[in-house]
Amino acid sequence: MDKSTRTVNLKSQSKLRQPTTIKRALITQPNHHNSDQNNVQPKSKKIKLGIDGKENAPTHGQTKPRSKISNATSGRQPCSKVISALSTLPKGGRNTNDRSKKIISKPIASKTAKTGAASSKSAPQSKRVITNTKATNKASQSKNSAQSFSIEELDVKLAAMQAEAKKLPKWDIKRKGEIYQEGFHLIPLLRQSYTDQYGDYEEKTKQITTENQKLKDSFAELDKNYKSSTAQVTSLTNHLDRVQRELNLKMEECGRLTQTVEKLNNEIHNHLKTIDERDAEIRENEAIRRKLHNEVQELKGNIRVYCRVRPLLKGEDNQDCDLPVTFDSNCDKNIQIHHSNTNDDGCRRTTSEKYDFTFDKVFNPTSAQEDIFLEISQLVQSALDGYNVCIFAYGQTGSGKTYTMEGCVDHNSGSNNARAGMIPRTVNQIFTSASALSSKGWKYDIEASFLEIYNETVRDLLEDNHKKKENIKYEIKLTKSSNGVNHVAVTNAKIVKVESERQVYDLLKVASRHRATAATKCNEYSSRSHSVFRLNLIGSNSLTGQNCEGTLNLVDLAGSERINVSGATGDRLNEAKNINKSLSTLSKVILSLANKDSHIPYRNSKLTYLLQNSLGGNSKTLMFVNISPSIHCFHESLSSLRFATKVNNCHIGTATKKVK
Ligand SMILES: Nc1ncnc2c1ncn2[C@@H]1O[C@H](COP(=O)(O)OP(=O)(O)OP(=O)(O)O)[C@@H](O)[C@H]1O
Ligand SMILES: [Mg+2]
Repeated sequence: MDKSTRTVNLKSQSKLRQPTTIKRALITQPNHHNSDQNNVQPKSKKIKLGIDGKENAPTHGQTKPRSKISNATSGRQPCSKVISALSTLPKGGRNTNDRSKKIISKPIASKTAKTGAASSKSAPQSKRVITNTKATNKASQSKNSAQSFSIEELDVKLAAMQAEAKKLPKWDIKRKGEIYQEGFHLIPLLRQSYTDQYGDYEEKTKQITTENQKLKDSFAELDKNYKSSTAQVTSLTNHLDRVQRELNLKMEECGRLTQTVEKLNNEIHNHLKTIDERDAEIRENEAIRRKLHNEVQELKGNIRVYCRVRPLLKGEDNQDCDLPVTFDSNCDKNIQIHHSNTNDDGCRRTTSEKYDFTFDKVFNPTSAQEDIFLEISQLVQSALDGYNVCIFAYGQTGSGKTYTMEGCVDHNSGSNNARAGMIPRTVNQIFTSASALSSKGWKYDIEASFLEIYNETVRDLLEDNHKKKENIKYEIKLTKSSNGVNHVAVTNAKIVKVESERQVYDLLKVASRHRATAATKCNEYSSRSHSVFRLNLIGSNSLTGQNCEGTLNLVDLAGSERINVSGATGDRLNEAKNINKSLSTLSKVILSLANKDSHIPYRNSKLTYLLQNSLGGNSKTLMFVNISPSIHCFHESLSSLRFATKVNNCHIGTATKKVK
């Protein structure tokens, strides 16, 4: 056997050892040749091409003799087909197939080239082989077509053939060819068997594979989603845990806070209860205070007289005499004035006069404005409690009436001045007390007016319009309010509602400018008129529903003068007469009140008529009797002290407050 034949046999043997591989190759052929699994046809065509040398693509260097050999060896076609089929086994793949073709053709070609004439000698033998093979093939074909094999049987058969082929000596090419031919005929049978057994297995496989792939994809997608969802669920679970923990903490805190709030609520409730009790207590105490206050005022007397002696002024001297005024160091209610007369009637005689007086209080020249106010502040409080209060300053010209009532201040500083008089101090106390009483439910409406009576004519000190002031008549009238309270009203007079101290001080400035002044021999700038500064205090209590209305009159009387001493004449004399008349009427009214006369001559003077509500039994009255320490004023001082004593001896009656 030549080299080429040996090569073919070796190759064939190696393939025949794997019957099951053949079976697999037959089924999966398309996969090995191209990626199209359905394309079985190209494979079978390829098999044909491998068998049929004519349809094979011309091989480079292929020669005529080779074609001959191809034709001559056409009797081995089945064998070649088997070889070709076997060559498509998985191990070889397409390349293997190509290689096997070369293996088949190359030895033949080399054989042709090498043997040359020798081939022509063996031609008859080859022809016989071919003829025999054809015959055998034909017989086998008819035999096979008539037979039907199972796959297992074919497997067995192929195994047997493989075993036989293996056992064959190398030179028995004839038998090998026969075996191959038989194997070739088994291919369609195998194919048919597989088709019978598995039907459109490939198609189904493809479908199943496709479906499987789809399922895999779907599963992958689901898996991906699942993993993603799982991650999300884990994340959400963690978040939920965190939130739950936070919520638990908040709930605990909330619980604690609720307890604290409850505790605080209880405390607040208790405090409110205590406050209510305290408020009630305060209101009760306030009522008691007002009652006791009034009782004290009554005990002090509803008309009180305070004596105030001013210091000597610059330029005043007592002609080397002792002061004509003596104070009792043990009792601040007593005062003594004394006077020595030297009668030069040839035998020089000195007579001494001493007069003792007792008042509710006596203030010596060293007394400060503050000390004086302390004693009247109780009456100011009474006005806020609903009483009518009247505070006078009575005395001769230059005795210190205006100093006591107004003080020596510029009105910008208000009460914040050591020399501030009773009016600014009263204003300060009223606003301070009204503000303090607001915590007890009291609210006050405060009205101010400032009038003067000059030559028995009423003037409005708050009116800036001089023309109006000249033409308008201010008449005093008695009115009754809707709640039955008597009021003394002055027609056309300005009543200004004030809400602050500053507002009142501005009004005082205006009044001070308008105050009529005239020079007299006794006091260059003495006031020749009575001035009446009035505050109406209207209070209401939102807690108790109480209302009260008090009036506070601060009166700076014109200077009392003995006409013969002052030397007034003409207008000044007329002024002095009117002043004395009104002061004498005041004295008579007070005496009549003290005597409880049926008729009180209020209307005898504008002053008493204007003050009638503050001089009756429904009021508290305080009179300052101002005294000059000058020896030259001794007789005027004596006259003033006697007048004051008359007033001081009066018991006007029990004051009643105007409370609704
Ligand atoms: N207690 C006092 N301390 C210091 N100075 C006083 C005191 N009282 C009065 N004066 C001064 O005496 C002078 C006269 O006082 P004031 O003007 O008050 O008298 P008056 O009684 O009002 O006189 P008129 O009746 O003429 O108005 C003023 O210069 C005043 O400053
Ligand atoms: Mg005066």
